[in-house]
Amino acid sequence: MARHPVGASQDFEPQRVKVLRVAGERVGVVLHEGKFYAWEDRCTHDNAPMGEARLEGCQIECPRHGARFDIRSGRVTRAPAFTPLEIYPTDVDQDQVYVTLPD
Ligand code: FES
Repeated sequence: MARHPVGASQDFEPQRVKVLRVAGERVGVVLHEGKFYAWEDRCTHDNAPMGEARLEGCQIECPRHGARFDIRSGRVTRAPAFTPLEIYPTDVDQDQVYVTLPD
């Protein structure tokens, strides 16, 4: 596991997804209801990037075929995906947002 800085907390607008390159991986990051969430930006249906879509509540929708995922848990909330999204831990330290990626 490696913890990576991804930006200052004030640079994130609530509900506005940013896709960032973190250690060579595309990672979606969003501020939702006062907490930061991060996930691998790769839809589990057909490996498409989901990009910087605005969230609907706590759900992100893949623009390719419309699968939806809960960004808090990775749970699939709408087919055609069946496999959960990979969610990464986040934390904030002195206004810096960090994402922890697996090795
Ligand atoms: S690639 Fe995302 S729903 Fe098909």
